[in-house]
Amino acid sequence: MAQDNSAVAPCHAGTGAFVKPFLDAVRFENLRPGVLLGVGRFWPDLFDPALFTVNGIDHPETMSKAIAKRQAEFLAGRMMVQIAQRHLDVPTAQIRIGGRRGPVWPPGLCGSITHSSAKIACIVGTDPDALVGLDLEHVADDNAVRAIEKVALSGPEVALLRAQRCLDYATATTAIFSAKETLFKAINGRVGRHFGFDAAVLAAPPTPSAVVLGLAADLGPLFPAGRKFRIDLRRRSSYLLTWYYCAGNNDNPTAQGSGSVGRTCHSINVATDPNTAVS
Ligand SMILES: CC(C)(COP(=O)(O)OP(=O)(O)OC[C@H]1O[C@@H](n2cnc3c(N)ncnc32)[C@H](O)[C@@H]1OP(=O)(O)O)[C@@H](O)C(=O)NCCC(=O)NCCS
Repeated sequence: MAQDNSAVAPCHAGTGAFVKPFLDAVRFENLRPGVLLGVGRFWPDLFDPALFTVNGIDHPETMSKAIAKRQAEFLAGRMMVQIAQRHLDVPTAQIRIGGRRGPVWPPGLCGSITHSSAKIACIVGTDPDALVGLDLEHVADDNAVRAIEKVALSGPEVALLRAQRCLDYATATTAIFSAKETLFKAINGRVGRHFGFDAAVLAAPPTPSAVVLGLAADLGPLFPAGRKFRIDLRRRSSYLLTWYYCAGNNDNPTAQGSGSVGRTCHSINVATDPNTAVS
């Protein structure tokens, strides 16, 4: 992936001093034509509400009442999407908050947003009918592993993960948790209701690049029990990223994979110039 140098360039405060940007280390890649995956880093300590205005991003009233860290992650996600929109050469429309707290994509776009501590990622694509989900997780420590086992995994899934030798156990449990979050983001809008972690189960041992989930519950005509989803997985240092992308015209998403199978994955330079710091 290519470093987005324009996003990491320090912004002058006007006094000659360098001001660290709120959002930096931004990198984008093509998952396929018209679909961008972006990863970046933001600095919650540098958050200033004025950054919403500076970057032309709506500051919803509900958000302005949230703690600064929450506002910072919300802003960072919208800034990433804005950079993607510029690169995709589509209008930089606002991403509203939907009824189930999910992002409302403007006409002609699809996508997903995730944040974890100071990491931020998004997928933005130009197929409004695509299913898209994305999740970023810090690899679980012992306590978090136990919590994931309790909340998100069944007994057979724990046994399968313990038996496999492809990933260490903490990475494997984090990957399955993240894959389930990704699947939830991708399909809950079409399903039309909330569903729990038991609605999808691990269909095969995970590999370093993919987790295959199968629906254990019937989630409606589009999502019958047994339908499988190949979730892409990538580990970078202590973080795991999972994502799912299925084009709107793809009626056999299991066979086709999530869009990363056979993708031409090349780095791109993104021309971006938002002020990422307020002086
Ligand atoms: C909605 C949920 C998946 C968000 O995940 P999270 O790990 O808490 O947070 P992340 O940082 O990864 O993602 C947050 C982003 O997800 C997006 N999001 C929130 N709710 C969403 C929804 N219902 N659908 C799609 N995207 C949603 C938003 O863009 C949000 O960021 P923003 O508010 O700044 O715009 C999670 O809170 C949840 O409810 N999980 C339980 C349901 C589940 O996973 N079931 C398992 C099914 S097998």
